[in-house]
Amino acid sequence: MSTSPAISLAEINSALAEFHAGLDEPYKMTPAGMWACSKSEEVYDLLEQVDLGGCSHFADLGSGDGRAVLIASLFMRATGIEVDPGLVQASRAMAESLGLNRAEFVCADCRKVDLTPFDLLFLYPDKPLNWLEEILPDGWKGRLLVYGPYFQPTEFTHINTIYAGKTMCTLWRC
Ligand SMILES: C[S@@+](CC[C@H](N)C(=O)[O-])C[C@H]1O[C@@H](n2cnc3c(N)ncnc32)[C@H](O)[C@@H]1O
Repeated sequence: MSTSPAISLAEINSALAEFHAGLDEPYKMTPAGMWACSKSEEVYDLLEQVDLGGCSHFADLGSGDGRAVLIASLFMRATGIEVDPGLVQASRAMAESLGLNRAEFVCADCRKVDLTPFDLLFLYPDKPLNWLEEILPDGWKGRLLVYGPYFQPTEFTHINTIYAGKTMCTLWRC
């Protein structure tokens, strides 16, 4: 799996810092949940630790300011699905200004999106994951990365626990 040499994590962090400089708080309630940010260095570290062979399309279900998608697009095609229009607009603007043309964003309720095209799902969950267990297409062959220890799937098969910095993340086959 090749990474894009053109853009560095530092440049993504700089774009995120510029966006956050205009905010009162780096979190808020959105139409479907709570926005809080993963740490970009940890997301990069996490993706470096996962075997991405055979992965072609990453999706962040609830992509917030788009950070995980911007970072994942250094490795592969990546889509963010986020219900908050302002966060989607900011994510798209950062992807465009950075020239990350493998990053795309959809403003939608991810519980209503067909997940068939994606083979690596990422979630920093703000609620229990039973909804995902219910909507994954039959026979879906991808894997799920869960950032943080708070909510874990109960129906999926645990593959690995990975520490990204100090944050416990888990990898699942569904
Ligand atoms: C804890 S934040 C994680 C943001 C981002 N993934 C990250 O790593 O920084 C959870 C995000 O999921 C979004 N969200 C929650 N439920 C959603 C849904 N059903 N459809 C789309 N977005 C959702 C929230 O608006 C919020 O931005």
